[in-house]
Amino acid sequence: MADVGVVSPTNIALVKYWGKHPRYPGLFIPTKSSISLNIASFTTRTRLRTKKGTNEVRFSLNGRKVGEEEEEFAYVRDFFGRLSTRYRFAKRYSYLIESRNNFPTASGFASSASGFSALAVAFARAMEEQGETPRLGDRDVSVIARLGSGSATRSVPSKGGLVIWHRGYDGARNDDDASAASFAESLYRPSHFAELALICVNAGGGQKKVKSRAGMDESVKTAKGYWSWVENEEKELLPSMLRTVRRKDWAAMFGLVREASDNFHRVCRETKPPIAYLNDTSRKIVRLVGPPEQAAYTFDAGPNAVVIALKDRAKGLRSALAGLVGKRNVVQSAVGAGPVEA
Ligand code: DP6
Repeated sequence: MADVGVVSPTNIALVKYWGKHPRYPGLFIPTKSSISLNIASFTTRTRLRTKKGTNEVRFSLNGRKVGEEEEEFAYVRDFFGRLSTRYRFAKRYSYLIESRNNFPTASGFASSASGFSALAVAFARAMEEQGETPRLGDRDVSVIARLGSGSATRSVPSKGGLVIWHRGYDGARNDDDASAASFAESLYRPSHFAELALICVNAGGGQKKVKSRAGMDESVKTAKGYWSWVENEEKELLPSMLRTVRRKDWAAMFGLVREASDNFHRVCRETKPPIAYLNDTSRKIVRLVGPPEQAAYTFDAGPNAVVIALKDRAKGLRSALAGLVGKRNVVQSAVGAGPVEA
């Protein structure tokens, strides 16, 4: 029996992940690398209890038991299924999972990232405690999280801050090679971003209509220009953005963050049938944020925005955004570190 508690932050992608490589079915290897910042204020706390047994999974989210027929349950069950092909001992255990988000699951902010990151870290610590494996490092644990949800890969590294998830398959000789090379690592600690604020804006989307998982599969198959988007971001936009971060050239970085968000939503629109994640409020947020030198906006698979700005501009932006969506729908956060045991 092991009993482990982990708190993990979620993250916001600056260069987006959108699509699993069709060459590696079931391995969740992305078509392109992505980078993100951890959001210190949005976390999932997960308690995992494991015991040798009949490979049962029980799962509660925010105090409610998730039924076996529910989609969230299938996500978790399938995660353990994929995990067992890599770690055979995983099949010999039963799992009792209690997860709580400190933000509403339906707010549209990605709880699968913080949720599967926390679960992956908890699984690793529990299996170490049970003597099944020597200590697993961040790299291995990020690969475990990847098997639950792609974006969760980037929440795992303990230093957090700015994290890259390498697509990993370039030059890989086989599936195992590609899987081991598709991991996340922290490139800049949170302190590198001390001048910046992340302003998270709930634009009232509620539950996503088109889930990321189904949406991205459709984009890979049908979006015109999908692969040229992949290669352009891999070779141009992502390296350029990292250069602006290294130099702390925030004005240039804001421009590239906006470009990456716009590019991603263009791919969604070019999917057949088109996927539209933004709503009128999202478009108002874009206008309110103003010119690219001053702040960035970025949107994931939903209408909610994360606005990135210098801290001394954050107060003004926060009150303007509160005027649009109401004060309680605007949360300012710092860039956060990675998961902790708690
Ligand atoms: C738009 O990680 O939710 O947030 O791997 O199928 O679980 P699965 O998808 P998920 O997709 C996130 C997509 C995104 C961009 C990003 O976080 O990079």
